[in-house]
Amino acid sequence: MRAVAFAELGATPQVHDVAVPEPAEGEVRVRVHAASVNGFDLAVAAGYLDGMMEHRFPVVLGKDFAGVVDAIGAGVEGYAVGDRVFGVVTKTFLGDGSFGEYVTVPVAVGLARLPRSVSFVDGAALGLAGTAAVDAVDAARLEAGQVVLVAGATGGVGNQVVQLAVRSGATVIATTHTGPETALVTSLGAAEVVDYRQDVAAQVLAAHPGGVDAVIHLAGDAATLLPALRAGGRFASTLVMSPDQLPTDAATVVPVFATPTTATLDRLADDSAQRHTTVTIERTYPLDQVGRAFADFGAGTVGKLVITID
Ligand SMILES: NC(=O)c1ccc[n+]([C@@H]2O[C@H](COP(=O)([O-])OP(=O)(O)OC[C@H]3O[C@@H](n4cnc5c(N)ncnc54)[C@H](OP(=O)(O)O)[C@@H]3O)[C@@H](O)[C@H]2O)c1
Repeated sequence: MRAVAFAELGATPQVHDVAVPEPAEGEVRVRVHAASVNGFDLAVAAGYLDGMMEHRFPVVLGKDFAGVVDAIGAGVEGYAVGDRVFGVVTKTFLGDGSFGEYVTVPVAVGLARLPRSVSFVDGAALGLAGTAAVDAVDAARLEAGQVVLVAGATGGVGNQVVQLAVRSGATVIATTHTGPETALVTSLGAAEVVDYRQDVAAQVLAAHPGGVDAVIHLAGDAATLLPALRAGGRFASTLVMSPDQLPTDAATVVPVFATPTTATLDRLADDSAQRHTTVTIERTYPLDQVGRAFADFGAGTVGKLVITID
């Protein structure tokens, strides 16, 4: 099968012909129709996970996917060949990625059904970013009437966070820089915007002198955002790995580690099918243009970049 992979550390990822994977016990094989780019993929390609995760070469890149089940491993119940699915590759090693024609995934975590009304492109963009968004909003424990600052609102995770926070009844302040970014987050429900190239905390405090109830931190320097929070507020972050990295007595710092349980993926799929949330797709690319997609991702995105696989 065709897959974007690298044969050794330091090699540029490119389309290789690799063996079609066989589903192990508890796994299904998915014929991938679309996969989306996450920062994790760029980190793997750059070799940043060397020494942190086992690499099984050739390492096929990619975490997010959407497609159709085409083979069933031993012991799998509840899925059949032909089911539309989406999710996140959660294996403890690197190698079985989703940027190829087929991927094998365990049914226990990182897999859920994709409703007919949600396209493969949208489904492929939902998994990791959506899960991080759900987990971040849950970690912020937003209540109706509260005010939340979303730092990084313009990215794949942030787009989902804004919508979920609005649905929880909170007033959302979103970070943006350009007019189109402001138009996007406003269309997703943000009530106010602040320019992230200026002092974000100062702009927030000018409008909310007592500070906001929660900060959801997806981009930028955490320490500079902390003053925007009221005493006793919650600071949920996908970038701070431990509260020790952001010492404060005034607020609760909650690191977020996206966990794509079936329940969370079902919730994302349902929200998307009901049009409670939308996925912003900035651009799609064929498999042989993953390099261009990575360059574009690195240069900054508004929403998600999706790889389509015929
Ligand atoms: N912990 C986990 O489990 C987990 C899971 C998923 C993601 N993550 C992390 O969460 C972060 C967000 O992910 P993502 O996929 O949404 O990334 P993304 O698509 O790259 O989005 C980041 C967004 O933040 C904007 N931005 C850049 N600098 C900023 C600043 N100083 N203040 C405010 N916004 C700024 C970027 O805008 P420009 O385009 O203008 O640069 C971009 O729109 C990433 O760091 C990712 O690695 C963690």
